[in-house]
Amino acid sequence: MAAELPGLAIEKHFYDVVVVGAGGAGLRAAIEAHEQGARTAIVCKSLLGKAHTVMAEGGIAASMGNVYPEDNWQVHFRDTMRGGKMLNHWRMAQLHAQEAPDRVRELEDWGALFDRTPAGLISQRDFGGHRFARLAHVGDRTGLELIRTLQQRAVQLGIDVFMECTVTKLLTDDEHGMVGAFGYRRESGEFIVWQSPAVILATGGIGKSYKVTSNSWEYSGDGHSLALKAGATLVNMEFVQFHPTGMVWPLSVKGLLITESVRGEGGVLKNSEGKRFMFDYIPEYFKAETADNEAEADRWYDDHSNNRRPPELLPRDEVARAINSEVKAGRGSPHGGVFLDIASRRTAEDIKRRLPSMYHQFKELAEVDITKEPMEVGPTCHYVMGGVEVEPDTAAAKIRGLYAAGEVAGGMHGSNRLGGNSLSDLLVFGRRAGASAASHAAEQKATTPRVTDEALAAARTAALAPLERQGGENPYTIHAELQESMNALVGIIRTESELQQALDKIASLKQRIQNLSVEGKRRYNPGWHLALDLPNMLTVSECIAKAALERHESRGGHTRDDHPTPSPEWGALNLICSEADGSVSLTRQPLPQMPDDLATLFKETPA
Ligand code: FUM
Repeated sequence: MAAELPGLAIEKHFYDVVVVGAGGAGLRAAIEAHEQGARTAIVCKSLLGKAHTVMAEGGIAASMGNVYPEDNWQVHFRDTMRGGKMLNHWRMAQLHAQEAPDRVRELEDWGALFDRTPAGLISQRDFGGHRFARLAHVGDRTGLELIRTLQQRAVQLGIDVFMECTVTKLLTDDEHGMVGAFGYRRESGEFIVWQSPAVILATGGIGKSYKVTSNSWEYSGDGHSLALKAGATLVNMEFVQFHPTGMVWPLSVKGLLITESVRGEGGVLKNSEGKRFMFDYIPEYFKAETADNEAEADRWYDDHSNNRRPPELLPRDEVARAINSEVKAGRGSPHGGVFLDIASRRTAEDIKRRLPSMYHQFKELAEVDITKEPMEVGPTCHYVMGGVEVEPDTAAAKIRGLYAAGEVAGGMHGSNRLGGNSLSDLLVFGRRAGASAASHAAEQKATTPRVTDEALAAARTAALAPLERQGGENPYTIHAELQESMNALVGIIRTESELQQALDKIASLKQRIQNLSVEGKRRYNPGWHLALDLPNMLTVSECIAKAALERHESRGGHTRDDHPTPSPEWGALNLICSEADGSVSLTRQPLPQMPDDLATLFKETPA
């Protein structure tokens, strides 16, 4: 019972809807829930405004047709499905493509300042896998502008924000499903509970399980793991996106993102021999729409209708694998990447205007002037396509009262996400999750759920365990070992024996975290925070490695050296993770059937 543990009082709050995470999905969800009349709280691990959303630098994909009037939601839907190698949930991809333009216009109404076309419309740029220039953008700081706009609106609406709070457990009961969330304040170490019939997970990704990543410290798979432990399911966790272009040098910033807009603006990839190598890596699946010579590739920037896309703008999985192969073949750059050249392709003035952040990032962090020299780039773990299995229209997870939106939700992107589709995804499904959670909460009001003291005491005891043990395992050592293993054994190219080794390692780390101990007290103690994040990282890593071992094919963000091609049988199956007694199990589930009117789009329009 809470009262029996002296000095450990728990701060209590009551809300209709609690949103965990304050990136774009969380903010958009909270705004919607609030506007639907729900008493809403946002809980975020970091300071408000600091979210991986800002790493989606290049733009928001939406078929507004401002640059190419022939663009429409059907073409966007088709590109998204083909980019995901047809494993996307068709209904999510449909809603996303249909609703993205309205979400962008709404953002503009709320104050976002987009770049403009000469005619004064919102400017749209090229990105990999998109048939038309489709990314509404703000220089190369689009995610930042999106967050700034949503944050301002949430604050203006008076939505309560709990900053620097980490949720360690979702609270459920058999009668109501979701009854709240338990966590701690990072600064004081004090415990806090939000009682609520509806919880929206918008916690982003899992990148911190990998050594080289564009994700920052917050992204430890908390939402994935919280959902799984509460009884929800995860779909297709094997699909992890390695963005082709992260910084490789200096080592202190290895993995930091270099936006795909560099290639969207005309940047090309070259190996140590000066060869524009992407022409050698055009897969059969994309041959019809990809230029196979420099002249045509370059003409495409002026006229998309009569020319095919440059191979640098193939989907990310293809480009990341190609870079990996060049480096392995000994044609890499001095620091183990390849060269990305915009300097010889655009004027210094254009580069500074269209890619201001990249210009400053390289100048300040690597002492490279990208208007004069090429950048050194290599793949970096950027995004997980797998996530909480949700009902497309409502964003509802398999537990009553639990919703998920943005990167933590699975299904939308299939086996590989197209760049720019994450910002639109989080606006479309953030809004939908907020509306569904508010309406669920309104139905629940008559029977306000209650969290029991026993549940709180158990959550608190679990959180305190690493502080109360002495002489046990150091969380930093375990984290480093996990990151090494995931990078080396569950990376871009996978094999059965390496995945098995990774699973053995994860099993041993799971044993070792039973004995974690940290020095010091609860007041701002990063060692303790990491100790509480580690079980989540291990859970998601186990899901990724198990699903990757099970899927005997190569597709999108999952490449098996020992099963190098896509298989029609696997192309019809999702892999679903669930958890019982601390162990992850997998089931195969047939893909939902796409209705004929949408299936026709793939027959009518040649690939
Ligand atoms: O490269 C980028 O600007 C990232 C965009 C995204 O992940 O959507």
